[in-house]
Order: sequence, then C-alpha cells, then structure tokens
Amino acid sequence: MYSEYQHLIDLSDYSPSWWDGIVRLGEEIKNDPSKFAHECEGKIMATLFYEPSTRTQMSFQTAMLRLGGRIIGFDNPSNSSVSKGETLKDTTKIVSSYADILVIRHPVSGAAKGAALTAGCPVINAGDGGHLHPTQTLTDMLTLKIEKGTLSGLTIGMCGDLIYGRTVHSLCKALSCFKGNKFIFISTPELRMPSYVKDVIIANGSTFEEVDTLEEAISKLDVLYMTRIQQERFASREEYLAQKDTYVLDRKKMMDAKKDMIVLHPLPRVDEITVDVDEDKRAMYFTQAKYGVYARMALIMTMLKNQAPSELLKGSTYNGVRCDNPKCITNHEEYLPKSFRSSGDDTLLECEYCDERKLI
Ligand code: NCD
Repeated sequence: MYSEYQHLIDLSDYSPSWWDGIVRLGEEIKNDPSKFAHECEGKIMATLFYEPSTRTQMSFQTAMLRLGGRIIGFDNPSNSSVSKGETLKDTTKIVSSYADILVIRHPVSGAAKGAALTAGCPVINAGDGGHLHPTQTLTDMLTLKIEKGTLSGLTIGMCGDLIYGRTVHSLCKALSCFKGNKFIFISTPELRMPSYVKDVIIANGSTFEEVDTLEEAISKLDVLYMTRIQQERFASREEYLAQKDTYVLDRKKMMDAKKDMIVLHPLPRVDEITVDVDEDKRAMYFTQAKYGVYARMALIMTMLKNQAPSELLKGSTYNGVRCDNPKCITNHEEYLPKSFRSSGDDTLLECEYCDERKLI
C-alpha cells in the first residue's frame, strides 16, 4: 500500500547513510543554530500526543519554532474529538490537511503506521506503545557522535525494561548496523529484549549477551543506556511491583565503570539512577535531552525538503488472519488492512504494524 508522502515510522525504512545525514546536519545545527532560523518559515507542524510526554513533545515544538515554523496540536486527547470517539484515521486525515508535517505519539503499537496510511502530509513516529521510538534513536546517535566521536566499535549496555522500552528497540536496530558494536542486555528474565529485535541484531552481524546484574557488565561498557520500568505497559500492578527497583545506578557502581564510559537515559528517570550520579561527568542524560532539539531540527528540515511517495505496507493479507497482539493498532482501529510479512513458507507471519509474530 502506497502513500504520497515519505514518513518516519521506523528507522529501518531508511539507510544508515540517511541517518548519518541527519546526525551530521544535527551537529552542524548544534554548532550554529541561528544559521537555520528561517529554514521552515511558513510551515506548520502538528503534534498529536495521545500519551504523556515532556521532552519529545517540547523538543519537537522547540525544533520547529527554532526553524522559523509554527505549531498546532494537542497533548491531551481528552480535549480533542478523540474523546467523542473519533477514529485515528479521521483525526489524522483532518489534522494533516491543516499542517505540513505531523508528529504522533500513541499508546498502541503500529499507530504511527496506521495514521500514515491516510495522512495528507509526512508523519513522524514519536513513540508507538512499547514498540519503537525512532526520533529518540536519532537523538541518541547524535549524542554518541558528539560525546564518543563514533557510532561504531562500541560495547553498549542496555539496562532495565528491555521488553517494553521502545527507545532500546529502535536503538538496537540502528546501532547493530554499524561495525563492531556489541550489546550487553541487563534485565530480569521477565523484561528481556523481544526476539524480533534480537533477530535483527543477528541479521545485521552484531552480537549480544544477556545478563541479570549491572555489576557483572558495567566494567566492560563504553555506553550504559539506563531505562525506566514502563509501569503503564504492564498487565497488572503486581507484575510492575515485582520488577520495580531491580536496577539502580549509583555512585558506588559508577566506580567500576570505565573513565570514559557515558551514561545515557531517554528520561524521565524515576529511581533507576540516583541523583548523586548527576554530578559525575560521565552522566550525559541531560545533555542528551538537549541534543534532542538539534536532532529533531535536522529531521524536520530533511523531511520537509525531500518528499516522494513511499510504500507503507509491503506484505500480504491472509484470509481472515489477524494480529494476536492485543496492543497492536489493527486490534483497536478495525478498518485498518491487516498485513503480514511472511518467512517464506507462509507459516510464520510478522505483523507489519507491530512486528509481533504468529504461526499459522
Ligand atoms: C521515553 C519514551 O517515552 O519512550 N521517553 C522519551 O521519549 N524521552 C522513555 C520513557 O518514557 O521511559
């Protein structure tokens, strides 16, 4: 299924050289933001945030304002017609006829792709449930490029909620495309990285190991990416409470880390990094949040300049087959065409919206 526009739903839809172009432009903007102050004059960006956000929403808005553009949108769907039962399709269709570019965050996996199918302008995925968060990854890559000088040859530890943390899914998929990166996944057995992400890492020729404690990994790392336990994505409060507070990075653990290791976190932090770590010069999470504006300025500029039709759904519909993931957008917005990639023998299908697999 084709769209007249190019969207950013998943970074894998673009090549590493395209990501590199965004990162390089982001660096240029960081060095002299005023040079870009008129780049988006006359353009309007709409932000549709169906889920809470501080950094992503405000950094997108700041980015557009710093480029000379203007912004519309909602950050609380209960103040919009969504509360009257309007479908994602109708909201997207209308708002994209008001704006030149649309940024969407939604609690359900695959929602950005679902929205892009009927949008009359480019759509950017600002987080779809526990699935993906490509613009955080652009921010993370810009941070690594500036603070570590490279995107290759790094040992990257990812710690905490790896199953529901969308930032680490997008980041692994991207960083595994660069030579010599190794991943150490630090989580409880219940919060391990999803298998579809691990398969991408293997297919890209990178390696990973899984460990249970921060102590056994920290001395090996060039980058430690901490994550929040995603309370809102657990099936029950009991399941969340069983995981809460498992991993806490403190000054004592930092003593075992390399002198040039950097600590990243997409934020918000709850209690997985103690506040005294903030004073450590290796704590890079506030700088990372600031770089998010430059990465998003580069992204908005690039997307508004280079528009071309794109193929949003490349797979097939299988008679009556639907995705088993209750958190997939196709199980919330009935009109969406179901679409699956097949493994070749047609017995293992992968949903094109949320990447969940099923055997038929
Ligand atoms: C993250 C998100 O929303 O996925 N935050 C962000 O975008 N900066 C991480 C989180 O909420 O834990």
